[in-house]
Amino acid sequence: MADASLFSSWSQVCAEFPIACRKVELFDGSAERLLYLDHAASTHAPRCVLDRYVHFMAEEYANIHRGTHQLSRSATETFDQCYATVAGFIGGELERGAIVFLGNTTQAIDLVAHVVDPLPGKVLITELEHHSNDLPYRKRGPVLRARVREDGSLDMDHVRDLLRFNRVKLLAVTGASNVTGWMPQIHALARIAHEHGALIALDCAQLLAHQRIEVLDLDDDAHLDFVAGAGHKAYSPFGASFLYGPRWLLDQAPPYLPGGGTASRVTARTAEFVASPDRHQGGTPNIGGVIALAEALRFLDTIGLDRIREHERALTQKAMTAMRAMDGVTLYGPEDPDARLGVLSFNIAGVSDLLAAAALAQERGIACRNGRFCAHVYVDRLLQNQAGATAEPGATPGAVRASFGLYNTLEDVDRLLEGVSMLRDRRWQGRYRVLGPDSENVAQTEAASRCNDRWMAPEG
Ligand SMILES: Cc1ncc(COP(=O)(O)O)c(C=O)c1O
Repeated sequence: MADASLFSSWSQVCAEFPIACRKVELFDGSAERLLYLDHAASTHAPRCVLDRYVHFMAEEYANIHRGTHQLSRSATETFDQCYATVAGFIGGELERGAIVFLGNTTQAIDLVAHVVDPLPGKVLITELEHHSNDLPYRKRGPVLRARVREDGSLDMDHVRDLLRFNRVKLLAVTGASNVTGWMPQIHALARIAHEHGALIALDCAQLLAHQRIEVLDLDDDAHLDFVAGAGHKAYSPFGASFLYGPRWLLDQAPPYLPGGGTASRVTARTAEFVASPDRHQGGTPNIGGVIALAEALRFLDTIGLDRIREHERALTQKAMTAMRAMDGVTLYGPEDPDARLGVLSFNIAGVSDLLAAAALAQERGIACRNGRFCAHVYVDRLLQNQAGATAEPGATPGAVRASFGLYNTLEDVDRLLEGVSMLRDRRWQGRYRVLGPDSENVAQTEAASRCNDRWMAPEG
């Protein structure tokens, strides 16, 4: 486990991340230190998490709750401790609440949709949502959708009205937008939802590793009923996620994925299902991934969530202030950096998001994302209200997204700003062309159905 004394400075934190030393080859053949600004997509693991994962795979690897031998018993014990670590990280407990481990945030949200499906009433979502906090509900019935305001923040009056004039069973809302990083006031929303007899489910994919989450006691009006999060956005490997939720509701729902581990007795005609979490964890879970996730959360706790937030807020404020002052640059979303995580979506007049992201990567070694970020409703609203986008011929307009993680520094912000100036002043050197499903370079059948799988690369 990470030692607190190792992290008194941010350079010590950076030193924990092997990826922070990675160099990438630029289009002119030179090498540059990678500046990874795609933390909103996935976050690299620090050494302590990598070591913990490798140790499990090399020395402790065994299935859980299925064996008497030493390895199985010890893997079971280690895995079972992870429930308390994850619950503790979000201020939860395991008597009235339960943690269920799944594969990604989408699955965790889908389990919420499954659990509330038999309850009477509608699901209320918002225009801020990632598709993963929208489509699982829509699969089970029509949803209500609360509007965002001109600046991209949530219209709380509309939320209130929708709750007042409809029978709503669940308000499903993001803890922070993956497009603007904007954070709704989740406890105020929880209070309003509960006042109207609705539950609240928080999509914490973005929030988990960047801002302290307090689910609060079930008896507190402002408590959060469900919280979903995933390891790959919290400095641990892909393939492990969790849902925190009320035991009574989880236990009242039919098993999410009936199978091995979910039933205590099965005959040719009947099955007796166990209580949560095992009730919903059909089949072998991602044991190593869960152990690594718990290690990552301990690592974040050791550094201190409040310190992490303050550090990333400073980066966000510096980048936002500078970008807002740059002619020809449109930065989307609400202006107050205190209400935002370090997720900045922007456009440069006359430069497509595809080209901007390609030139930042190929000419400056900066890894950003571009496109519509699986949040089409929100991106459409932002582009409608703030404009600023330029699309490649035949492409849908989007934006470029730079997102900070805890090992980024103020110097990294300077490097990003220099890259944005380079684009704004048309100082890139390569000649770029679009690749993807329409180009001869990509296997048509494989790529044609993928969301947004187009990119640009320099010719020659
Ligand atoms: C806000 C938000 N919700 C949900 C998801 C889906 O997460 P996952 O890929 O873990 O299913 C993402 C992923 O980017 C996200 O940013």
